[in-house]
Amino acid sequence: MAMSILFTAAHIGTMEIPNRMIRAASHEGLADERGRPTDEQFRFYKGFVDGGIGLIITGYAGVMQSGKSALFNMTMIDSDELIPSHSRLVDAIHQIGGKILLQVAHCGRQTWSSETGEPLLAPSAISCGFYREMPKEMTDDDISNVVESFAKASSRAKKAGYDGVEIHGAHGYLLSTFLSLHSNRRSDKWGGSLENRFRIIGKVLRAVRETVGKDYPVSIKLNTYENAPHGTSPEECVLTAKMVEDAGCCDAVELSCGTNEGGFVMARGGFPSDAIFNYMRPYCTYSHTAKLFLKTFAVPFIKKRQPPFTEGYNLAAAAMVKDAISLPVITVGGMRSKKFIEEAIATGKTDFVSLARPLICEPDLPNKFRAGISAAALCKNCNECVVASDTRHIRCYRK
Ligand SMILES: Cc1cc2nc3c(=O)[nH]c(=O)nc-3n(C[C@H](O)[C@H](O)[C@H](O)COP(=O)(O)O)c2cc1C
Repeated sequence: MAMSILFTAAHIGTMEIPNRMIRAASHEGLADERGRPTDEQFRFYKGFVDGGIGLIITGYAGVMQSGKSALFNMTMIDSDELIPSHSRLVDAIHQIGGKILLQVAHCGRQTWSSETGEPLLAPSAISCGFYREMPKEMTDDDISNVVESFAKASSRAKKAGYDGVEIHGAHGYLLSTFLSLHSNRRSDKWGGSLENRFRIIGKVLRAVRETVGKDYPVSIKLNTYENAPHGTSPEECVLTAKMVEDAGCCDAVELSCGTNEGGFVMARGGFPSDAIFNYMRPYCTYSHTAKLFLKTFAVPFIKKRQPPFTEGYNLAAAAMVKDAISLPVITVGGMRSKKFIEEAIATGKTDFVSLARPLICEPDLPNKFRAGISAAALCKNCNECVVASDTRHIRCYRK
C-alpha cells in the first residue's frame, strides 16, 4: 500500500515534524491560578502524543498581565518565575517523544480588566462587541512594551525547552486588531495603510527572532477573514503573509479566521444556545426569564447570520496564501476527513493541517487515520467545548 502523504515528514524551519497533522492551539483552562502548566495539562497533551500527532501547539499563553484571557485558567509566560513549571511540562512531553510549540498571545480588547487588573489595550478606543469594555488606545510606549513582552515570552519558551513558538496574530486578539481596519482607526504610523497596520507585527517578529536566535522555529497565526465590516479579507491576508515572509524572521504561517464578536466563524458549526446560557459569562448569570426570552427571539436571528460549516472552510484562502509565499502553510478550520486532508496536501494547497475540536473529542485521530480504522473525525462541531472554555477546562461535551 502506498504511503499516505499525511504521514510523510516535513519541516517548519529547523524542526522536522514526522507527519502533517498538528494539534491547533486550543485554550485548555488547565493551568493553575498563576498560569503555570499542571500535571493535568501534561496528561491532556500526552493523549495527542500517544495518538500520533506530529506537533502540539499549546493553547494560548499570555505574554503580559494586560493580555491575560478572561477564559478559565489561562497558561501564562509573563515571568521568568514560570519557566521551571513550563520546563517540567516540556521535558515530560519530550520524554514520550512529542514535539511542542508554545502559542504566545496578548488578548487585547477580548478580555475584561476585572481579569487582567489593568486597562484593556487596543489600537483604537473601540470596544469588542462581545466583551463590551472600552479599551485604551495604545501609546507608542504601550506598543514598545507589548513588542518587548512577546520577545521576552518567546525567550522564556526557548529556555523552557519548547520546540518553537507561535505568535497569535489572529481571532481578534491584540495583534490582529492592528491588522484589521474594523478595529484599527489610527492615522499615525500604526494605522491606515496595511504597511502601517502590519508594523507592530513586523516589530514583534524581529524582536522575537533577535532573542531566540536564527534556528529557533517561529510561526504566526493569521486571519484570512473576520466576518466584520472593513475586516480582514483573504486578499489582504495574502499581502500580510508576504510581509511576514519579507520580514525574514518567521518559519511558518497558520491560517484561520474569525473574532469573538463575529460569532461562530473561527469554529463553525453548531450554535449551542443551552451551553451558552449554562456556561458562558455574562449569559449564564441571566435570570430564567431573560434566558427564555433571548432563546426564543434573539438566538434564531443570530444563528441565521453564522457562516455555515463546510469541510476545510479556510482552505481556499489558505491556498491563495500558499501560492504567494514560500514559507510552509498550516491550515486550520474544519479539517475532518482523511481524504480531504490528503487531497489538500497532495494538491499543494497547504503543507500541514491543524485541528482543534476533532482532537478534543478524539486525541488518537491521527493513529486511526494511519491504521485505516477511521475515515473522518467523529466531532460534530457542536461548539460546546468552545463555549464552556469560558468557565471550565477543556473537554468534549458530547462524549
Ligand atoms: C476550546 C477551543 C479553544 C481554542 N483556543 C485557541 C487558542 O488558545 N488559540 C488559538 O489560536 N486558537 C484557539 N482556538 C481555535 C482553534 O485553534 C481553531 O482555529 C478553530 O477551532 C478551528 O479549527 P477546528 O475546526 O479544527 O476546531 C480554540 C478552539 C477551541 C475549540
